[in-house]
This record gives sequence, C-alpha cells and structure tokens, in this order.
Amino acid sequence: MALHIGSIAPDFEQDSTAGKIKFHEWIGQTWAILFSHPKDFTPVCTTELGRAANLKAEFDKRNVKMLAVSVDDVESHKRWTSDIEETQNAQMNFPILGDADRKVATLYDMIHPEANDTLTVRSVFIIDPNKKIRAIITYPASTGRNFSEILRVIDSLQLTDNYKVATPVDWQDGDDCVIVPALTDPEELKQRFPKGYRALRPYLRLTPQPNK
Ligand code: BEZ
Repeated sequence: MALHIGSIAPDFEQDSTAGKIKFHEWIGQTWAILFSHPKDFTPVCTTELGRAANLKAEFDKRNVKMLAVSVDDVESHKRWTSDIEETQNAQMNFPILGDADRKVATLYDMIHPEANDTLTVRSVFIIDPNKKIRAIITYPASTGRNFSEILRVIDSLQLTDNYKVATPVDWQDGDDCVIVPALTDPEELKQRFPKGYRALRPYLRLTPQPNK
C-alpha cells in the first residue's frame, strides 16, 4: 500500500552498523528521520552522511533520531564509514541500516524502477513519536539533499503541532507565521496571539512566531 503523510511508518527489524534495530522500538518516544542512499561508496551519499553527522546536535535539540539506509550490507557500510569520516571531517554518530535484501527499501517504496531498477532514490521520511509519517521528501539520486531544509520542515511540524499557525513561504525559525484560516473567534485570537496580528486579507493574517 502506498505510504502517505499520515500513514503509520511500517515497522521492521533489520541489522545496522549499531546492531539490530526494531524500528518502532528504536524510535521510542522521539521523532525520527529515515533516509535512503542509492548505494555505498558513492560520492553524493558520502557528502550527505558527513553533513548529517555534523548536524546531529541540531537533530538532538529537536528530539529527532537519524537512521540512514543503503541497499548494501552492514560490513560494506562499516568500510564506507571510514571514507565518510576521513573525507567529510565527521564522526558517524547514527546508524546505517544494512538492506541487501531490500526489505526496508521495498517497504518504503524507495526503489523507483522508472528511475533505476536497483538503486534507491533519495527518500526522507519524517516520523513523529506516534510513528506517524509527517513528511515525505524525494530527490533523485543525482541531487544531494539539503539537511537545513529537513531541519526547517521539522521545526515547522513541531511548531504547528503546538500552535494554531502554519508557516509561510521560505519561513525560518523566528519568522512571522500565518494564523490558520479556521480560527476566527476574536476572543480566541486575542488569547492565542497576545502579540497581535496583521490581517493583509481576512484569510492572510501574520503573527510573530508564538513560541519566541
Ligand atoms: C552518489 O551518491 O553520488 C550517486 C549515487 C547514484 C547515482 C548518482 C550519484
């Protein structure tokens, strides 16, 4: 069945560079990102894993665990790790799933045969503590992902879970937000947005980021 935003992330058990991972148990009460790499010992993936490792403190701050997957085995991942660490000035500080049997790649529909029969595309699944998929981002193998964008999406999800706002174009943490259109009661608006808001149109109301 196709995975959508709102689907429960399929559970699995698979070996990794940090030992066996039972996915839902491993996530526990945190958020998680699961992201795929077409293959070990490839240049773009090497840069991405280095960047992700160097951003671990940012993911930790947001209570997000990182888990990479590549359709090679764990022994291959371990050999590749030395290259990542040496070339990217990084310490690999999160697991890479072995997926030579493509269990995870298949469960998460990471192989797009019209693009390539054997390699995965670059998928990112952002998963919340209820194991619900909250965002799916898909890039072709030839385009390295932007991990700042992944953090930005997580910031937006975590903010909008807690306040009746949405985040507008190019929003960055600290920028003005928009008030959800369904909220129209003047008393509730005053109570939820004590800093006030600017209505450019009745449906387009900007307010300072409520948790700042
Ligand atoms: C890479 O990670 O560099 C890569 C992988 C597959 C196709 C193209 C690039």
